Amino acid sequence: MPPEPTPVVLTTGCSSGIGRATARRFLAAGWRVWATSRNPADVAELARESCRTAALDVTDAEQVDRVVDAVVERDDRIDCLVNNAGFGQAGAVEEVPVDRLRAQFEVNVFGPVRLVQAVLPHMRAAESGAIVNVSSLLGRVVYPTSGAYAGSKHALEALSDALRMEVAGFGVDVVLVEPGAVRTGFDDRLRETQGSVHERPVYERLRRVVDVAQRLSERTAVSPDRVADVVYEAAVSTDPEARYVVGWDARVAVLADRLLPARATEWLYERLV
Ligand SMILES: NC(=O)c1ccc[n+]([C@@H]2O[C@H](COP(=O)([O-])OP(=O)(O)OC[C@H]3O[C@@H](n4cnc5c(N)ncnc54)[C@H](OP(=O)(O)O)[C@@H]3O)[C@@H](O)[C@H]2O)c1
Repeated sequence: MPPEPTPVVLTTGCSSGIGRATARRFLAAGWRVWATSRNPADVAELARESCRTAALDVTDAEQVDRVVDAVVERDDRIDCLVNNAGFGQAGAVEEVPVDRLRAQFEVNVFGPVRLVQAVLPHMRAAESGAIVNVSSLLGRVVYPTSGAYAGSKHALEALSDALRMEVAGFGVDVVLVEPGAVRTGFDDRLRETQGSVHERPVYERLRRVVDVAQRLSERTAVSPDRVADVVYEAAVSTDPEARYVVGWDARVAVLADRLLPARATEWLYERLV
């Protein structure tokens, strides 16, 4: 019997956090890993650990096509795509300039779609494959000042749900991973985006309350390795769930959102303004 071919995974946003941990998780399981990042220097360490690496900004359509072509040309297959790259844009809806909102969707929504469109012909031809989209707790629930980010992750969730139904018949699985707080540089980067919004003092109190809640949740944040384990398990499952919630904070929030009437949370937030 010929040996089983080595499975191949392509991951975005491997410069840090969940993306880097995910590359290592697949590598440890014996996969051929394509670890990509905007700046190639950020994945040099992963290259030394025997990942294949490539420069990939998910907003660059030509680069997306080039990288997917390179994967298929060199390794002849693509078994899993992990759409991990993303960032959070802070700000109340009234404060976020539309070009920042567009930038948020370019990375968190259109980027994953570009990659999906590039890999799907290969997965359909092989009649197998797994697409893992890293969403967020904020793909399920929303809180004030998270509209841009939550909007992008909700859009990613809807697109993933449609895609799952469209490609199931071709042997391709589509999975959402929904972490709560994770110990990465994500929240610091999110706070930096505050500088790009037209701040209005009327939202100051709300902003402070949300910031306190966010800093509290950071104390119980899970490690990026924990998320990477879930991404890997979802990718190799023969019958994956549609969505995997990661972390107790996310579990509680999703449950509370299901059980509490929307009016109750709205009442609470109204009193904070
Ligand atoms: N940390 C959390 O609490 C948390 C919770 C729920 C969901 N998530 C999701 O998890 C994913 C990974 O985030 P993380 O926590 O690991 O944060 P992170 O350490 O900030 O990593 C984000 C990654 O996305 C990359 N990225 C940003 N814009 C990009 C672009 N245009 N093209 C390609 N790559 C780009 C970053 O690359 P550069 O270094 O080049 O900027 C970085 O590698 C994101 O989708 C995020 O929404 C995070």
